[in-house]
Amino acid sequence: MTDTGFDFNAFQRQVIEEFRANRGRVGGPFEGSALALLTTIGARSGRPRTSPLAYLTIAGQPLVVASAMGADKNPDWYHNILRNPIVTVETGEETYEAVAAAPAGAERDALFAGVVAADPGFGEYQQKTARRIPVVTLTRIDTAGVDRARGLGDFLVESHDWLRDELGGLRRQVDELIAGGDAPLQAGRPGLGHEMRRRCLDFCAALEQHHTGENRGAFPMLAQRFPGLAPVLDRLGQEHEVVARLQQELQALVGSYEPGRTDLARLRLDLESLATRLENHYRYEERAIVSALNSLGPAPDLG
Ligand SMILES: [Fe+2]
Ligand SMILES: [Fe+2]
Repeated sequence: MTDTGFDFNAFQRQVIEEFRANRGRVGGPFEGSALALLTTIGARSGRPRTSPLAYLTIAGQPLVVASAMGADKNPDWYHNILRNPIVTVETGEETYEAVAAAPAGAERDALFAGVVAADPGFGEYQQKTARRIPVVTLTRIDTAGVDRARGLGDFLVESHDWLRDELGGLRRQVDELIAGGDAPLQAGRPGLGHEMRRRCLDFCAALEQHHTGENRGAFPMLAQRFPGLAPVLDRLGQEHEVVARLQQELQALVGSYEPGRTDLARLRLDLESLATRLENHYRYEERAIVSALNSLGPAPDLG
């Protein structure tokens, strides 16, 4: 609430309700203007946040403008899209997912000139502030047609689930070893410890292959199709590096496995921290790129 007694949040909630009840038509100060509801994921809270915004199409490109009515600070939703560029757009007639991007330099200026030509009010907002008002393009993630077929994004989730299961099995196996199964070779038969070692090295190889596939395949394809995803892909790539280091430590420890000598408690802790890192990584990756990946094509048919 401001000192004038005007509750901006309550006003926004009312606009959102009216918009949804009337298929995008809103009265009052917005009478006759094209609005959209933009839902972003809070940069700090991680929770969805919906903002009613003027919705324009300039040179065939749907966009919104981070004008904040000429205030000196960028609106919160703008910070949100820099962190999580996957957004939901409600136009009143349809709802779609999109990748939001904020073009810089001449590209931004050309779009902003188009915005001002379409609605001179935005030129007035720009004059109120030294901030260069960002233009935010919305590139639709086309999920039509991939709803029934398994898409590349679905394949990613399945791969994660498989890796989750493998790591879970490995942790149980180490628990068994700690509980007393870590016996040296018996009558020439490899014991549980050796089986764990093989399984652990197989898991590391599969994980490395998964991340290499993303770094060399999925991520470059996404970067080309959705430039707005660049910050997300950078973050995911950095997480891959952190995971690779943990994985190398694990491989070194397990590679030199010797029943009765290898520190199983440390191995268990290493697996634990790898599992925690990986789970956070999978979750972020699934939230941020699954629908975009599904729009790129069908899942590979591995027979
Ligand atoms: Fe990944
Ligand atoms: Fe992944």
